[in-house]
Amino acid sequence: MKTRFIVVGTGNRGLGCFAKGLLGFPNKGLPEFAERADLVALVDLNAVRGKAAARELNRPDMPVFRTVKEAQAQVPADWCIVTVTDREHRDVVIEALEAGLNVLVDKPLATSVMECDEIIAAMHRTGRQVIVGHNMRYGRSTLQAAKLVRGGAIGEVISIEAAELLGYSHGGDYFHRWHSDFSRSAGLMNHKCCHHIDILCWIIDDHPVEVSSWGGRRFYTPRPELDHGERCGDCRISSTCPHFFDMNKWDGVYRRIYKEAEGEDGYVRDLCVFSDRHTVYDHQTVQIRFAKGGLAAFSLVTFSPTGGCYFNITGSKGRIELGESTVDGKPYLRLQDASGKWTIINIEVDKTEHEHGHGGADIRLIADRLGLGQSDPLQVATTDEARRAVLIADLASRSIAAGGMPVTPAAAGRDFPPAPPRAKTLPRV
Ligand SMILES: NC(=O)c1ccc[n+]([C@@H]2O[C@H](COP(=O)([O-])OP(=O)(O)OC[C@H]3O[C@@H](n4cnc5c(N)ncnc54)[C@H](O)[C@@H]3O)[C@@H](O)[C@H]2O)c1
Repeated sequence: MKTRFIVVGTGNRGLGCFAKGLLGFPNKGLPEFAERADLVALVDLNAVRGKAAARELNRPDMPVFRTVKEAQAQVPADWCIVTVTDREHRDVVIEALEAGLNVLVDKPLATSVMECDEIIAAMHRTGRQVIVGHNMRYGRSTLQAAKLVRGGAIGEVISIEAAELLGYSHGGDYFHRWHSDFSRSAGLMNHKCCHHIDILCWIIDDHPVEVSSWGGRRFYTPRPELDHGERCGDCRISSTCPHFFDMNKWDGVYRRIYKEAEGEDGYVRDLCVFSDRHTVYDHQTVQIRFAKGGLAAFSLVTFSPTGGCYFNITGSKGRIELGESTVDGKPYLRLQDASGKWTIINIEVDKTEHEHGHGGADIRLIADRLGLGQSDPLQVATTDEARRAVLIADLASRSIAAGGMPVTPAAAGRDFPPAPPRAKTLPRV
């Protein structure tokens, strides 16, 4: 019998990754997925977007509901895939669990430790499963690195330097959208870096005992001298702006699911990045002290000319370096032993993989849910592991509010983390 799915949140991720993936669209899923999965309904608060998504799937008659409860009452399913905005994760996941569904919630698990704990309590109460879409674990180098470090290849982990660098287009895209509103994403350390923080904690198999952080917004600020428009769609400088988001790109899918749905909820997908409406930081550093004694320094930069990431981990017997190059975007993984000898580990990348979501990781994540995966059990992100990434971002926000002072996990769990001070009030030294 096929596993029946509901997808909640029919934006880019719900439609482009999961709904198309389950139905086996080329580059989004595999043909055999459709033999195992049945997508029975879509759910979105924006009914125009929900219906547009059904048309994109070539299933114009697919039922579209405003809530999971309504969907489950009319077209019962087994699993609910949650791809709504981050701050809505808690409510939607709990609603789905209470309606009797298992849940795959896209990362981050939630926007605060408090919400994660409420989800975990609901999971235990209902006896259902919750899996978190930490798809970066399905990348080509991360599992190998986790196995090497956990297997003792570099000895005891002592020091970590890590960073996520987002290029102008990728980094700027968060400042076009809801992500730049702290009350909806809890900032990019949560929304975006939960991937990298999860990978870091997962590779070294450890959890944080203290976090401190600094952040600022110096790049995505008002730039009236540029004579830009309110949104990319009506901007005079769009042909030269590295942040231009083209709502007509590809075959116009963004125009159909976002622009043509604006009348429903007023959400504009391509607002100009140069604005003072943002309440999240565009660069941030986080220091983490881990339970086993390792110290990490992690940086986020959202305005690098080109994107990439790195994790450099030094232990008592050697060093491991992995990431994606800012030169050519290629993944790399290398290991150095105590004598200084390097082993370069070949990462096999299928030439077509980059056409798939996240280098094929999204397809591998869905394959796992359908019992068609060849992945390692280590790659499945549990709620406790996903909570750990939210915890570090949550503590980082609390540290910033405390002027950069270290904070411990006891500080989180009772409320939503404090929004960062407005960037324009930050001291410029
Ligand atoms: N794993 C990854 O690599 C990855 C990548 C991008 C985004 N994401 C995550 O996927 C999620 C969705 O991101 P997106 O870029 O698709 O956002 P989006 O804005 O394109 O879509 C979100 C959709 O959710 C709907 N929605 C919001 N609240 C709702 C509610 N309570 N009930 C029903 N519908 C609701 C909105 O109307 C919208 O259609 C986010 O949590 C994001 O963090 C994960």
